Amino acid sequence: MNVGIIWGSDSGDTEDVMEYIVEKLSSYNVENIHVENSSIDDFTKFDILLLGISTWYDGDLQSDWERFFPTFQEINFKDKSIAIFGLGDQYSYEDYFVDGIGILASEVIKNDGKIIGHWPTEGYEFVESRALFNKDLFYGLALDEGNQYELTKDRVDKWLIKLGFILSDIDFCAK
Ligand SMILES: Cc1cc2nc3c(=O)[nH]c(=O)nc-3n(C[C@H](O)[C@H](O)[C@H](O)COP(=O)(O)O)c2cc1C
Repeated sequence: MNVGIIWGSDSGDTEDVMEYIVEKLSSYNVENIHVENSSIDDFTKFDILLLGISTWYDGDLQSDWERFFPTFQEINFKDKSIAIFGLGDQYSYEDYFVDGIGILASEVIKNDGKIIGHWPTEGYEFVESRALFNKDLFYGLALDEGNQYELTKDRVDKWLIKLGFILSDIDFCAK
């Protein structure tokens, strides 16, 4: 199975998570593409596509995603299933927590795609978020490296398993 991860990161947090996911999915054929270097074809050529994004400046897209966004809006996601992971800060940006997830998800849905990998809101404290599918679920995996870094790996593992992946044991590989 071909897995794609298209990502953008300003201070490296989303990149770190992307690298962790690549390690965990080492038994699959995984290609990661920085959104800056991506083409429309990269969004439709994989069996499963993961998108990684952080949110900046009161609900804005991460800068590389922001530059790519007009192209992203043109992509036809028909018959495609997309899973999104997003980084944010629930305490400093409680009214905009992981908005980037929601902004990408809306475009995918608008252009006939399907969002998979909804994630519970339980365990987070925030006021508003465009990433909400409903009051109990985000459209994708929400991660907060600033405030809950100790939960990140466990959240990622659970999310990947929920998406149907069988995970590699990194410690075993490192021996
Ligand atoms: C100036 C600034 C603005 C931010 N704005 C938001 C925001 O609106 N919503 C949010 O959830 N997180 C916000 N964050 C938190 C970042 O998304 C978070 O630090 C994330 O881990 C950065 O990931 P990256 O290094 O991959 O870009 C902001 C952080 C900074 C420094």
